[in-house]
Amino acid sequence: MAQKPKKSKTQRFYDRIADIHNLMMKVNGYQSSIAKLLRSLDLNLDKNSLILDAGSGTGIVTLGFYGAGFRAQKTFAVDLSLNLLKISREQFETDKQTDGNNICVVQGDVLKLPFADETFDLVLSCGVLEYISVEDGLKEFARVLKKDAKLVLIPVRPSLVGSILEKLYNFKTHSIEETKKIAESYFEISGVRKFPFTEPISWSKMVFLLQKK
Ligand SMILES: C[S@@+](CC[C@H](N)C(=O)[O-])C[C@H]1O[C@@H](n2cnc3c(N)ncnc32)[C@H](O)[C@@H]1O
Repeated sequence: MAQKPKKSKTQRFYDRIADIHNLMMKVNGYQSSIAKLLRSLDLNLDKNSLILDAGSGTGIVTLGFYGAGFRAQKTFAVDLSLNLLKISREQFETDKQTDGNNICVVQGDVLKLPFADETFDLVLSCGVLEYISVEDGLKEFARVLKKDAKLVLIPVRPSLVGSILEKLYNFKTHSIEETKKIAESYFEISGVRKFPFTEPISWSKMVFLLQKK
C-alpha cells in the first residue's frame, strides 16, 4: 500500500493552529493594509493575468488583492497546510469581492512549485520567506515569473515584534541587507517600503517590490 507523504514540522504546526490563526488574521487588519498597498502599485495586470499567492495561509493576501479591485484570469493559492487551505477556500467562496471560481487552492511547497517556468504575471508572498532559505525561495519565485513581471514580497522584518513572532511561529527572520543582496541576482529592486506605522502590519512586516530580470 502507498505510504502517505510525511508532513513537515511547519505543516503540522499550521494545521494545528489553523482556527486561532484565522481569527488573528481577521482582527489584525492585515487584509486592508495589503489591499491599500497593492492599490498603490503599478502592477501592470489585465484580465488574462495569472497570479500566485505563495504561502497563502488563510488567504488574506489573495483577499486583499481582490479587495483592492484587481481581477485576474486565475489566482493560485499555494500552501503546505491543508487546514489553512480549507479555510481560505471557504473565504474565497463567500467573500463578495473575490471571484471564488477563478481561485485555485493547491497544497504544495513554495520551494518546488508545481508550475512551469515563466507562468505568472505577479507573485505575492507574505510571511513565508522566514520558513525557507532566501536564496532558494527567491530563485523559485523568479523561475515561475515571466520576464519583467513583479514579485511583491512582504517578509517579517528584524525587530522586537519580529523576534517575539519568531518564537510564537517557529521561524527565522532574514536581514534586510541579505534579502536585498540575494534579490539582486534575480530581480531589479523597484522599491523597499514600510507600511504606515498606524497599521498593525507595520510592526512586523515590510515590503520589497521586485521585478524579474
Ligand atoms: C505566517 S503564515 C503567512 C500566511 C499568509 N501569507 C498571510 O500573510 O497571512 C506562513 C505560511 O507559510 C506557509 N509555509 C511555510 N513554509 C512553506 C513552504 N515551504 N511551502 C508552502 N507554504 C509554506 C505556512 O503553512 C503558513 O501558511
